[in-house]
Amino acid sequence: MDDDTTAPRTTTGGGEDGLRRAEDVVARILARRGTALASTEGQDHAHDAGELEREAREGTRRVQGLSTELEDVSEVEYRQIRLERVVLVGLRTSGSEEDAEVSLRELAALAETAGSQVLDGLIQRRPAPDPATYLGSGKARELAETVAANGADTVIVDGELAPSQRRGLEDVVKVKVVDRTALILDIFAQHAKSREGKAQVELAQLEYLLPRLRGWGESMSRQAGGRVAGGEGIGSRGPGETKIELDRRRIRTRMARLRAQIRDMEPSRRTQRASRRRGGVPSVAIAGYTNAGKSTLLNRLTGSDALVEDALFATLDPTVRRTTTPDGRVYTLTDTVGFVRNLPTQLVEAFRSTLEEVGEADVILHVVDAAHPDPTGQVQAVRSVLDTIPDAGGIPEIIVLNKADLAAPEQLAVLRTAYPEAVPVSAWTGEGIDALRSRLQEVLPRPRVLVDVVVPYSRGDLVHQVHEDGEVASEDYADAGTHLVARVDDALAARLGEVNAAPAPDLDGE
Ligand code: GTP
Repeated sequence: MDDDTTAPRTTTGGGEDGLRRAEDVVARILARRGTALASTEGQDHAHDAGELEREAREGTRRVQGLSTELEDVSEVEYRQIRLERVVLVGLRTSGSEEDAEVSLRELAALAETAGSQVLDGLIQRRPAPDPATYLGSGKARELAETVAANGADTVIVDGELAPSQRRGLEDVVKVKVVDRTALILDIFAQHAKSREGKAQVELAQLEYLLPRLRGWGESMSRQAGGRVAGGEGIGSRGPGETKIELDRRRIRTRMARLRAQIRDMEPSRRTQRASRRRGGVPSVAIAGYTNAGKSTLLNRLTGSDALVEDALFATLDPTVRRTTTPDGRVYTLTDTVGFVRNLPTQLVEAFRSTLEEVGEADVILHVVDAAHPDPTGQVQAVRSVLDTIPDAGGIPEIIVLNKADLAAPEQLAVLRTAYPEAVPVSAWTGEGIDALRSRLQEVLPRPRVLVDVVVPYSRGDLVHQVHEDGEVASEDYADAGTHLVARVDDALAARLGEVNAAPAPDLDGE
């Protein structure tokens, strides 16, 4: 095969030992995409949608564990990387020791989400990253010893590495080195489900990859050198500069297609949003730091079984559910992707359309993990992203202090002082959920549909419901039934319209 992206797969699949330098996340992204890149070459653009859907189906199969159906070597390799044994490393350039530790703990949670086993973690205090090896040389050697002592096969750096720093550090620690951005991209790739989600992730991955392609190519050539030295022959040499140029062009073409696809998907998403709003159904967006318990809360509020995992980013694509306030008014709840500090810029950009959903909500339910070591930092991180979303500023926000069952009472008390309007709940036990439902009922916009109807006396239930859910402007008794002028939600307006006994019904949609 002339597709140079097969090189790392062949090396790995062949069970060779050695440093496996090229088998890092970046190479894997290209390896996975290599199939797509090659298969789209010379094809009609219209095939892309089918391809994305096929990938989505393959993703489902993978989740269901039907490994016998795996058709592609890259998928096998993709599964293997979930079992890596990793050592984490962070730099403390400024800020407190505690900050650096919280950040490293978050990196550990991310690594576990990706399926890795975290063996150890080191933090170096240093004013700036070393341009050659990221860590200082002494610390890099210490890291190499830790890696060897633990039998680790991967180092994950809590920052973004230049290609030369990654190679420099790999030379010292003798195992592959992955940075935080690549790790997050990898997690997003695992969890993207919808066609749009997958397209957005792929675009983000390619954006990350493009400027690093030269480094990857060099690394491949160096690996080939190693194989020559090991007696494998010159024919296995890695890609040259021309090949890299070709890849760059293919990647750019692919990125342009993905951007076009994402643009094409926008109108249908808008239509869906518009139809929800036209119906006058108020909407609530659930936002919050990753792993704060958004999906669990959505389930608790709606009684549904949206995906819940003890893992970061269990939710990627927004999920929309309908439910009712205690007084029976219908509203929708939208779960959104979890936030994370230092979200890679490629992802912020790629997920803007997903986050725009928040900007169109009537209420933002901001879920905070009250048992986290730094809940205030989480609130600030979420708010700093929300601030970048057009129109999100003026939307009422309810802060939900979740995991109240787990949080220390003192910490909960501190949070309640900092956010006096916040509602403490446990989505897990159900504690505080009724109070949250009542708060939502208060904050949600009142019904918008004005009705002027005569309800037959046999339908006292509907009159009762208008009193319960709507705002009654006037009520009198006609021969045919109860004459009501009221504001109600769209669902009730529709039901009233069906039984209306007035000669000329006056239903005003707005
Ligand atoms: P992402 O989709 O990754 O952004 O996460 P999320 O915010 O949707 O979190 P999710 O609902 O998946 O919950 C994460 C973990 O926290 C799961 O293991 C839940 O069981 C747990 N969890 C959620 N709410 C509570 C709670 O009130 N108390 C306790 N003890 N655990 C909770």
